Amino acid sequence: MSLQPHGGVLIQAYHPETSLQGIDREIEIDAIALSDLELIGIGGYSPIDGFLSKADYESVVENMRLASGTVWSIPITLPVSKEVESELQIGETAKLSYQGEVYGLIQVEDIYEPDKEREALLVYGTTDLEHPGVKKLHERPELYVGGKITLVKRLEKTFAEYTFDPIETREIFKNKGWKTIVGFQTRNPVHRAHEYIQKAALETVDGLFLNPLVGETKSDDISAAIRMESYEVLLSNYYPENRVQLGVFPAAMRYAGPREAIFHALVRKNYGCTHFIVGRDHAGVGDYYGTYDAQKLFDQFEEEELGIKPMKFEHSFYCSKCEGMATTKTCPHDSSAHIILSGTKVRQMLRSGEVPPSTFSRPEVVEVLIRGLKQEVLS
Ligand code: ADX
Repeated sequence: MSLQPHGGVLIQAYHPETSLQGIDREIEIDAIALSDLELIGIGGYSPIDGFLSKADYESVVENMRLASGTVWSIPITLPVSKEVESELQIGETAKLSYQGEVYGLIQVEDIYEPDKEREALLVYGTTDLEHPGVKKLHERPELYVGGKITLVKRLEKTFAEYTFDPIETREIFKNKGWKTIVGFQTRNPVHRAHEYIQKAALETVDGLFLNPLVGETKSDDISAAIRMESYEVLLSNYYPENRVQLGVFPAAMRYAGPREAIFHALVRKNYGCTHFIVGRDHAGVGDYYGTYDAQKLFDQFEEEELGIKPMKFEHSFYCSKCEGMATTKTCPHDSSAHIILSGTKVRQMLRSGEVPPSTFSRPEVVEVLIRGLKQEVLS
């Protein structure tokens, strides 16, 4: 498996020296577009070098491919209101600003009206407004601007010691002598089930890139700051130091299940991973997606056109009869012996100070989560 970025070239569009003089037009962007801008600029979304034009957008929504044919499953768009659009000219350069600061520039290539119902249906598999991704899609402004970007200012590095650009992680992996690297996406604390599948993967590859998403998530997910502390205690107590690299993924969560799993894998390829873990209901929410839909979607593509190998894992749990972590692939006992807690149930337990069993989560992790959530409540 090669370490080629997706599409062959790692986009490098961060140019802080770019002069803003003479550029009057300004587009105020939201937190999602801000994290997308950053990720395009540092090459995380290679080969994408800007917000999608109409042709690319339609091709991604309809066929999970850019107009060039390269696989891409999530539309990366820049929504603007009609008022903003009425001022914009095709061909001009506009500043992209967030809370009064300019983070980037866009060369306006086109402006178009998306069919959001269709986008919801094809990308999220539902038009239900209760779905957090679909809700967000409709809350964002009604027109999309396509065009190449330049990143001129980086996001504040909240987790500076764990913030690496794809070009840096590639170098880190090389220096560690890792040839096969498995990426792990998560928006949760790492519980025993996650640990089990990570370690099962680590039995066959050189290194694990633990790459928690720290961009925008829905409000009842555990905050990134608490999660980061929980990863630190877990790694220092239970993982060999030279086999794991922790680094944050600054993207927003879309909750698009299968389509987001493909997107998550392609971006990790850009960070230098050769493999990517896809467990049960990857990037899912509620019961919108089947447990293994995300895994199945990978089968629709040729291995070479993805260029990163999915490592698929069954729903794992602790079995009191096996006295260890297992899946139905390895355990013959019925569900009465299995300890399975839902994420929602665990969050409820933690928020009320109740301690989930060590068969579900390591005690050091639970301690951090309870302390963190108490502080969150008090602040
Ligand atoms: S996600 O939205 O970021 O995918 P989460 O942090 O829960 O959510 O999951 C991270 C990865 O672990 C995903 O690939 C998911 O499929 C997998 N996963 C989570 N829990 C389990 C489990 N009990 N068994 C197997 N895989 C799991």
